[in-house]
Amino acid sequence: MGFFRGLRSSLPSLSALLAALLAAIGTPAATLTIACGSGGVDLELCKRQAQEWARSTGHQVKTFSQPGSATDALSLYRQLFSARSAAIDVVRLDAVWPGILKDHLLDLLPYSRGTEREHFAAVIANNTVGGRLVAMPWYVDAGLLFYRRDLLDKHRRPVPSTWAELADTSRAIQAAERAAGARDFHGYVFQGKAYEGLTCNVVEWVASHGGGGIVEPDGRITADNPRLAQALDMAASWMGSISPRGVLNYEEEDARGVFQNGNALFMRSWPYAWKLLQAGDSPVDGKVGVALLPAGPGGQPAATLGGWQLGVSRYSAHADLAADLVLHMTSAQVQKQRAIRGGFNPSRPALYTDPEVQAANPFMASLGTVLNHAVARPTAGTGMKYPAVSKAIYDQASEVLSGRQSGTTAARRLEAKLHQVRRSGWGLKPREGD
Ligand code: GLC
Repeated sequence: MGFFRGLRSSLPSLSALLAALLAAIGTPAATLTIACGSGGVDLELCKRQAQEWARSTGHQVKTFSQPGSATDALSLYRQLFSARSAAIDVVRLDAVWPGILKDHLLDLLPYSRGTEREHFAAVIANNTVGGRLVAMPWYVDAGLLFYRRDLLDKHRRPVPSTWAELADTSRAIQAAERAAGARDFHGYVFQGKAYEGLTCNVVEWVASHGGGGIVEPDGRITADNPRLAQALDMAASWMGSISPRGVLNYEEEDARGVFQNGNALFMRSWPYAWKLLQAGDSPVDGKVGVALLPAGPGGQPAATLGGWQLGVSRYSAHADLAADLVLHMTSAQVQKQRAIRGGFNPSRPALYTDPEVQAANPFMASLGTVLNHAVARPTAGTGMKYPAVSKAIYDQASEVLSGRQSGTTAARRLEAKLHQVRRSGWGLKPREGD
């Protein structure tokens, strides 16, 4: 008895001792997994910067290279989350996912220490669902036109400001370059595979034709209209003429491969391509310019908004540490390095006036102009149904690009498909009892 009483009375001091000991040696090292981009400088920087955090905290970080296609990456996360898998602690999220994956992500507000105010307010708003900040912005994207400055100069053509001009210049220079022996030379490459990247292109074509938002922010379906049909017919007319039929299988990296090898005059892509095109071993180093995408007949250019965020999986066994890693990876210092070395557009406005960032990315200073023409994908009105909406868009567009249906038929079918997707509502309102 005496022994037990003695033990009990000595317990508080024992646990105090243990706590002091743990505080002295730190908590045991944990191993976290962070999702990074699919390759190149994106993956390299992600690995290096995550290791910086590991070194300074004494924990370990493994990196997971997620699929390059946003569509494939989303289905992977949906599988992992439905299995409540703890395999990935820090998740890399597309700008169009916060509303879709919100239930599987931790609220970062209790961890962010007010740093969310240092990011673009619009991106924070995009990442805040039901008052919860489900992801911290990592970098922002907008669709851009990359062009071969040397070839436009050689053939005395200006940077095109309309799609019609782009097609005309493409035809002329493609013919001249092929005649001079460049047999594989093409006018225009873009992302034409049936996946999220094609939806981004379609949104630009349609908006620049004044064809509306496909599904408007208030949930109205506006796909079946002549301007949308005209925009798709325009893209179909490029196939096998100024664009190789292979674009039907192109993601971002396929288009970049062709352009970087010197085999295309124009490319639609995102800011990340810039640094890679300028790399010392790039055949087009020093020969590339960047501009706004061309305007449609109504006179408006459009640039689809994109970008990536970092969030913490609700199933992570190390949520606090994962949140700390997210704050490191989205910090000003890390975003500055990513801007300088990778050309990734910071989500922190202050970095756009940083002289080193400006010197490394001449086009970043003009991002304001691009953002004036920014268009969002139809996420606001479609909530949880966005993946099905995007699939309807890229499936119907793909049928037009491959010559199996006209723009008018696609507009009608897309409208009908979207009504089907909406049948049980857009999934915006919480269900009763939620
Ligand atoms: C870029 C954009 C992303 C978009 C994807 C489509 O990574 O940042 O928002 O969904 O391209 O391929």
